[in-house]
Amino acid sequence: MSGSLFLSVVLFLGYLCTATSAVSLLGCVKFERLALLKLKQSLKDPMNELASWKGINCCSWGGVGCHNRSGHVFRLTLDSMSLGGEINPSLLELKHLRSLDLSMNDFNGTNIPEFIGSLPKLKYLNLSNANFGGPIPHQLGNLSSLRYLDLGSNDIPPTRGLQDHDLGWVSNLSSLRYLDMSVANLTKAGNWFYAMNKIPSLSALRLSSCEIEYIPRSVPYLNLTSLAILDLSRNNLNCTLPKWLQNMTNLNLLDFSEQNSLHGPIPDVFGSMTSLSVLNLNLNQLEGEIPQTMGNLCSLEGLDLSWNNITGQMTQLVVGLSRCFSNSSPQISSLNLAHNSLSGPIPLTIEKLSSLEFLYLQSNQLIGTVPEGIGRFSKLIVLDVSSNSLTGVVSEAHFANLGVLKELYMSLNNLSLKVNSNWVPPFELNFIYLPSCQLGPLFPSWLQTQKGFSKLDLSKAGISDTMPHWFWSLTTEIMYLNLSQNQIKGSLPLSLESISISLVDLSSNCFEGPLPRFGRDTLVLHLYDNSFEGPLPADIGEAMPVLRNLLVSNNLINGSIPQSICTMENLEVLGLADNLLSGRLPHCWSDSQILMVVDLGNNNISGIIPGTMGSLLSLASLHLNNNSLSGELPSSLKNCTSLVALDLGENQISGNIPSWIGSSLPNLVILRLRSNKFTGGIPPELSYLSSLQVLDIAQNSLSGIIPRSFGNLTAMTKIQEKGFILYENWGSYLDNVLVYMKGRELEYSKTLGLVTSVDLSSNKLHGKIPEELTSLFGLLALNLSENALTGEIPKKIGNLRWLESLDLSRNNLSGEIPSSMSSLTSLSRLNLSYNNLKGRIPSGFQLQTLNDPSIYIGNQDLCGPPLTDGCPSDGESPPSRNSSITGEEDGSEFLWYYSGFSPGFAVAILGVFSVLFFMPSWRYALFILVDDIVDWFYVTTTVTMAKLR
Ligand SMILES: *[C@@H]1O[C@H](CO)[C@@H](O)[C@H](O)[C@H]1NC(C)=O
Ligand SMILES: *[C@@H]1O[C@H](CO)[C@@H](O)[C@H](O)[C@H]1NC(C)=O
Ligand SMILES: *[C@@H]1O[C@H](CO)[C@@H](O)[C@H](O)[C@H]1NC(C)=O
Ligand SMILES: *[C@@H]1O[C@H](CO)[C@@H](O)[C@H](O)[C@H]1NC(C)=O
Ligand SMILES: *[C@@H]1O[C@H](CO)[C@@H](O)[C@H](O)[C@H]1NC(C)=O
Repeated sequence: MSGSLFLSVVLFLGYLCTATSAVSLLGCVKFERLALLKLKQSLKDPMNELASWKGINCCSWGGVGCHNRSGHVFRLTLDSMSLGGEINPSLLELKHLRSLDLSMNDFNGTNIPEFIGSLPKLKYLNLSNANFGGPIPHQLGNLSSLRYLDLGSNDIPPTRGLQDHDLGWVSNLSSLRYLDMSVANLTKAGNWFYAMNKIPSLSALRLSSCEIEYIPRSVPYLNLTSLAILDLSRNNLNCTLPKWLQNMTNLNLLDFSEQNSLHGPIPDVFGSMTSLSVLNLNLNQLEGEIPQTMGNLCSLEGLDLSWNNITGQMTQLVVGLSRCFSNSSPQISSLNLAHNSLSGPIPLTIEKLSSLEFLYLQSNQLIGTVPEGIGRFSKLIVLDVSSNSLTGVVSEAHFANLGVLKELYMSLNNLSLKVNSNWVPPFELNFIYLPSCQLGPLFPSWLQTQKGFSKLDLSKAGISDTMPHWFWSLTTEIMYLNLSQNQIKGSLPLSLESISISLVDLSSNCFEGPLPRFGRDTLVLHLYDNSFEGPLPADIGEAMPVLRNLLVSNNLINGSIPQSICTMENLEVLGLADNLLSGRLPHCWSDSQILMVVDLGNNNISGIIPGTMGSLLSLASLHLNNNSLSGELPSSLKNCTSLVALDLGENQISGNIPSWIGSSLPNLVILRLRSNKFTGGIPPELSYLSSLQVLDIAQNSLSGIIPRSFGNLTAMTKIQEKGFILYENWGSYLDNVLVYMKGRELEYSKTLGLVTSVDLSSNKLHGKIPEELTSLFGLLALNLSENALTGEIPKKIGNLRWLESLDLSRNNLSGEIPSSMSSLTSLSRLNLSYNNLKGRIPSGFQLQTLNDPSIYIGNQDLCGPPLTDGCPSDGESPPSRNSSITGEEDGSEFLWYYSGFSPGFAVAILGVFSVLFFMPSWRYALFILVDDIVDWFYVTTTVTMAKLR
């Protein structure tokens, strides 16, 4: 791509090498030989690379070059020899040394010896990649003949690399052409530019990753006009692009990419840098439009403006560049404009850029169709137009001459790929990335020709066809296979062990039949939402030893959970919910496992919760809801201190709710013990759970009072405005969030953070409703129905102003309905039926809209609208037993039906946190898989979210 770029450097090196290649006929000078032997002695040479350093003629020793007439050593090339240890000052005996190369060795953080500055004839010094550390010796400034100095890539993490506070010495190197100090820490060397600008001969300056924060905005005079290479990538520059760049008229490569924060517009000056062949400004914060003059850069071979905030259209750039190429100058081979805010269409003239090898336009706001002219790019290797607003059909013509295309990305547009069923593409792709691109309804038969691909994503492609048998014989090694969210039918081969697939996602399809056996290298297996049947392989643990992520929820899997699951030491996520699993939970869990998510809800698993589950110390999310588990909670679960979500609802678990839930599981956000056989009181310790947002212990046999301390449930005292509150509890993973799972899971995960609810209904609780509950300002739902609560409704109930659902029905509450109730402006569901409330029903605001009389049924002495009974002061007869409601004995049932919601307000949250080993960047991605929240809740919390904004 930039072949000519390093020409000057290569020529220069060539000069050094040819001059020294002949071995001296005279043999070497004795004192130089002795000096070399001393050097060898002090060096560590673990690979015995200096074995040839013996005998008289040191000129024939490996890496030693002598002058062919004088016999003096003038070149030492000891690179890539794994050398370490100490560099002996005997080196100074080699007074004629012109070239010293110690690169690619390991000096383990030792300093560069100061005496190297006393080798006066040195022209070439390469100490790169050799793990030198500490301050750069300023004595190097004495090497006034030096032309090439490479101190780059000496990076011993974290802080032991090279550093310098004052680069003044560099300006003495008046013959220098090439300087590389990449990765040296130059934060404090504020004079770096000043020093470099004293060397008019400099033609290459590489200062990548030097933590440079300062670059002058203006200079009185620019000496660096010979500069061909300027690499300032990965520094901490926070400025606009300096204007003086325009005087660097010989610049070939300019790189300000990554980690810098260049802002402001791209200046027009680039138009004058006509020799520029590589321009990298990616990963900055540049804004404004691409300057028109950039189209004049007719030497451009690679342009990377990706990951900025560049707006406007790409037309002028493309039109400009395509004009250049009619003059048969070298042509651009890489154009990367991805991740900006470019708008408008892809200009048709792009077809003139026919030497493009890499075209990245993804993640902009491009509209219109994909120009057919792209089909002329016979050298194109990568095409990425994903995540735009492109429309229309892509057909054979678009690929006509793309014979070397290897990677095709067209996801997330409004594109459809329509080709003849007998189309034979000219390419054999390696990466096929077409999610959300309309390919169906038939399974694309052209895939048959794509032998040897390693990544294939056809998710959400509208395919509703049977999986063809040939598919599984196309390739033997797949890194990533995603066919999810189609309606692909049929069963899979019984064994896929002969294909090495790292990540498989076949979720949300119509696959049926038994689960296939996948290969030993499988890392991630997503098969959820299909109709796979039969048991899990008994030897799953041994068969897939590196599996991290197993999601087979919502299928027809039966049998029991294999014991061999316990041997899977890499498993982080186990999701087998919504199946027909029976039998007992494995009892063999061990602390060598790193399981974070266990979701086995909605199966038919029986027996007890084994105590060994307490050894899963990383467990963050445990869902065993809706099974047939019995016995008491094992106290070992108190070791699972990372638990965020604990859902054991709908089982037959008995005993007390242990107080350690409150004292030992401090991160709990969701606690769901609904519909079990818990007895005894509610432990006041639950109020220690300062992150708790969902507390559901309804439908048990709990007795005693509601602890006053519940007023301290901190997370409920605030309005949860952020959809990702749960992520925040996972701060250490947040850094790595790259890919959120799409679809249902994410939708709910967004709202999960907003949910705050307390459900204590259908127990045997008595006593008063503690006034303290009214300090849970952030509460969205409160259900205390079907208990034996007495006393009055707390006067301050109106404080719960975000409350959307309040159910106090079927208790023995007495007194009047507090008038503050009318300030519950978010309330959309209310049930006060079957109590002993009396007096006038308050009115106003939201209460006005809750005008179904059944809300109040079963209270003898309530009066006023919406009841037909008037109040005494209205001058009517004293309220009598409420008889105005349409018949039904179970008024509350009626109400829920009437409101269109399911009874009992079940917030059935199956929150699953998951750390996913996910493509394409092979980094962790965090997502939450939450299932089955009552639709109503989703809708109304979304509305709430909107209200809050
Ligand atoms: C490298 O340096 C470190 C720190 O100075 C030292 O602990 C380590 O032993 C050294 N390694 C070798 C192989 O000399
Ligand atoms: C670079 O050096 C400065 C001080 O000279 C120091 O504060 C900073 O931590 C260093 N950076 C790294 C990555 O070591
Ligand atoms: C330009 O280079 C010359 C020669 O090294 C030097 O004398 C002069 O000071 C430099 N100019 C600047 C502005 O540094
Ligand atoms: C840049 O070049 C122009 C024209 O040759 C000259 O007038 C100007 O002084 C130069 N600027 C710098 C900073 O050297
Ligand atoms: C860049 O500088 C501006 C203003 O000096 C500052 O607000 C901004 O946070 C800085 N950006 C970075 C990434 O340091």
